[in-house]
Amino acid sequence: MANALPLEYPPFIASMEKRGLKLEEIVCVSFTVGWFGEKKNSNRVVKVNCYYLNGTVNFYMRPIEGVILVVDLDQMKVTWYNDRAIIPIPKAEGTDYRQVKGTKGEGEERFRSGSIEEKVGMQHDEPNFSIEGHTVRWENWEFHLAFDMRVGPIISVASILDPEQNTYRRVLYRGFLSEIFVPYMDLTFEWYFRTIFDAGEYGGGVSTTPLQPFTDCPPHAHFMDGYFTNQDGSPTKTPNVFLCI
Ligand SMILES: *[C@@H]1O[C@H](CO)[C@@H](O)[C@H](O)[C@H]1NC(C)=O
Ligand SMILES: *[C@@H]1O[C@H](CO)[C@@H](O)[C@H](O)[C@H]1NC(C)=O
Repeated sequence: MANALPLEYPPFIASMEKRGLKLEEIVCVSFTVGWFGEKKNSNRVVKVNCYYLNGTVNFYMRPIEGVILVVDLDQMKVTWYNDRAIIPIPKAEGTDYRQVKGTKGEGEERFRSGSIEEKVGMQHDEPNFSIEGHTVRWENWEFHLAFDMRVGPIISVASILDPEQNTYRRVLYRGFLSEIFVPYMDLTFEWYFRTIFDAGEYGGGVSTTPLQPFTDCPPHAHFMDGYFTNQDGSPTKTPNVFLCI
């Protein structure tokens, strides 16, 4: 609801008119306000930023910078507004990330000719890893890879081959991502409060969605499934939750 308020708020509408933007192409998103040493305020408020679609679904690529609103969630109304500056919006071209439907073969062709491979420099030949159950061997590494409903992928007993002794030397007992914190570190008025706690309470496990072969991953990717407990406690398989490349 808070995200819809700007579109009915006259000063915001005037700001959009000034920029020549169509209201029906605007989407707004709420962010936590954070705390930066201000006097304590018990209101439940969010900061709302807006984006421009008009030719893309990837609206995060088209921020309407310079404009920000504060919404009080209890009153459900705009309590503060600022239009600081008109900043050009990036073009819509080339920002769409949606999958183009096709057959497996076409998918592979697209993947090979597409930009994903070029961007991350994925290997073209046969993979140089082997998987036995959950044990992965890759170059001189050996580790156990498992999925956990709470944290997502867990690497355990990671060892590296000691060429002199010809034995594996343990370097990590257990490692996983417990949090993802993204402080943007940008001091501008519309950005300083964006210190996003992307994963913490929810964790990487419950946020997992199946990876799409040929779209998210290269043709030679090897996928692993993950298991969740559903609400009655029974295990539920989610396919392709993570992969080895
Ligand atoms: C919306 O997109 C169309 C097609 O790309 C473009 O011609 C038009 O100028 C855009 N309108 C606004 C207001 O940005
Ligand atoms: C990786 O490649 C090397 C050289 O081609 C080979 O000796 C080794 O067994 C490969 N490792 C795995 C884990 O497949």
